[in-house]
Amino acid sequence: MRIMVVGGGGREHTIIKKLKENKSVSEIFALPGNGGMAADATCVPIGAKEIDKIVAFALENKIDYAVVAPDDPLVLGCVDELNKVGVPCFGPDKKAAIIEGSKVFSKNLMKKYGIPTAEYNVFSEPIAALEFVKTCAIPTVIKADGLALGKGVIIAMSRDEAINAIKSIMEDRIFGDSGSNIVIEEFLTGPEVSVLAFTDGKTLKPMVSSMDHKRAGDNDTGLNTGGMGTVAPNPYYTEKIAAECMERIFLPTMAAMNAEGRTFKGCLYFGLMLTPNGPKVIEYNCRFGDPETQVVLPLLESDLLTVMQAVTNGTLDKTEVKFADKHACCVVMASKGYPQKYDSGFEIKIPDCVADSVFVAGARLDDGVLKTAGGRVLGVTATADTLKGAIDGAYEKVKNVSFENAYYRSDIGARALKAK
Ligand code: AMP
Ligand code: GLY
Repeated sequence: MRIMVVGGGGREHTIIKKLKENKSVSEIFALPGNGGMAADATCVPIGAKEIDKIVAFALENKIDYAVVAPDDPLVLGCVDELNKVGVPCFGPDKKAAIIEGSKVFSKNLMKKYGIPTAEYNVFSEPIAALEFVKTCAIPTVIKADGLALGKGVIIAMSRDEAINAIKSIMEDRIFGDSGSNIVIEEFLTGPEVSVLAFTDGKTLKPMVSSMDHKRAGDNDTGLNTGGMGTVAPNPYYTEKIAAECMERIFLPTMAAMNAEGRTFKGCLYFGLMLTPNGPKVIEYNCRFGDPETQVVLPLLESDLLTVMQAVTNGTLDKTEVKFADKHACCVVMASKGYPQKYDSGFEIKIPDCVADSVFVAGARLDDGVLKTAGGRVLGVTATADTLKGAIDGAYEKVKNVSFENAYYRSDIGARALKAK
């Protein structure tokens, strides 16, 4: 089988490595991929948002199956266009991807179907929003409606911060048109859990839970990032909570999307907060999380391609999705300065002994030499029978990988260890 994976980050590298385990896979193309994937896939210089070029490539290269991994192409309707020309895909169509593409949509969906989430108001005019935050509870949370590279959420700790957030999103348009509408919502507290689930619209099978580490610095200090590391499973996510989430959140969400005529097929990501009043949805994503995928897929014992095809074909009920009873930890190595200004172009050394555990994100090949080319450069994952073992294993492997200006958190998994 000839497979195409749209996207170019650590998540896509993890998906590609897992797909390769299936013996029927003859070739994998990554669009655009990155220099660090060259050993696992043929990288093609087509951007993930260049839908017409992606479709033309799939036809010209007789692609048998496509995986569309990032939010942008999904929200733009990449799956719809590939399906139109007969290429089967893993990923939701445009109508279903709106669950991530519009926060106003997802909040209204949850309200309509009684799915627990933070209380909220929607504003399309800054004047009304500014009036609202004069009296609302503080802290408050301000979210741009549309996609904003994962940065569209501002937690305002004071009224002044709330006012500035509204002005910068709605007037200065720091997130572009994503900020034409905003959601202002109740500030929730509690441990956060990420749960990815395979669903074909009839059956939903959750994957092992995970915990992201969003802040740049140790002890959850510093700026928000795309994610500095992950562990799986998440120790806060007990069997009892999992059962409650299945009944009150996961299945109702699948049913709600069906009822709206927006059947979701693909990987549905539930960003949850375990509040004192029970689990609530913080966000939905219409795709695998990054860097959650880097700890979830290494624990998947079932064949990924088989599961993905079952989602596409609507036979997930008959397909086993089994995870190892083990733990995983991923430590992200970033360029010093990320998520703000950083330098790139430094040689990356990944010895063969750890290559299987390294998922490359921000790198390019320069005359055959792998060099840094992004904020989050790569993730290093280890699995073990215990959480402690996985954490120690990941940091041990990190010691083998090197590039100038490398920065990583030294406490990935520490909070999870305490929770146990
Ligand atoms: P999101 O981009 O929606 O994942 O939001 C980024 C982060 O903001 C989440 O991971 C939470 O840590 C935080 N957050 C979002 N919404 C809320 C909320 N209602 N209350 C508290 N924290 C929130
Ligand atoms: N790690 C969060 C995300 O993928 O959006």
